[in-house]
Amino acid sequence: MTIGQVTRRNAMVGVAALTAGALGGRASASADFEKDRFVAEVRGANRESDAQAAVAEVLKRAIATPAAVLATLGEPATAGIHVLYKDSGLTILNVIWAPLMVLLPHDHNMWATIGIYTGREDNITWRRAGSVIEATGAAALSTRDVLSLPNDVIHSVINPIERLTGAIHIYGGDFFAPGRSEWDAATLKQRPFDLGNALRTFREADARFPREPLTDP
Ligand SMILES: [Fe+2]
Repeated sequence: MTIGQVTRRNAMVGVAALTAGALGGRASASADFEKDRFVAEVRGANRESDAQAAVAEVLKRAIATPAAVLATLGEPATAGIHVLYKDSGLTILNVIWAPLMVLLPHDHNMWATIGIYTGREDNITWRRAGSVIEATGAAALSTRDVLSLPNDVIHSVINPIERLTGAIHIYGGDFFAPGRSEWDAATLKQRPFDLGNALRTFREADARFPREPLTDP
């Protein structure tokens, strides 16, 4: 199965999640989002035989009520990567994308499942082609969508809207462990993943976003 096929399949999963969210998104006591309970549920799912599928189900349920997630994690205010949980076999991140931000292609060397609780996130998937990479597919994610990516995925991410996007990213391993790669956005050549560079991308993208309305001098 190619990355493109996986991407299309998962885009359909995302549509299913959107439908389920639309049908089941009524506010109720059971729709509360508690961070500790969510982390415990994800950790439990990560012990299942098909851990990624089980984690995706937990994530779909959580973001089916985006207002509850926002009430707990807060309305996105600053772009960055916030760790909700991390151990050697699992990482849960609250990723806040700056408006119109682009993160260059990178791998994970572990499965990843992404859920959007506010805004939009466009993913491009890539595959190796000689000494560079070539694009193979795309998935446009909206609020309540979930996208599952395989262990060997290479993807880049765009926030296509002029406001912050909030997403929960879950990885089947230690996201911060060494050994990952990124690909230069201009040359598409591989190099070691640089976490500092990635975090700088978030900071610089955030700084480009005007917080106050522009006024004439
Ligand atoms: Fe990623």
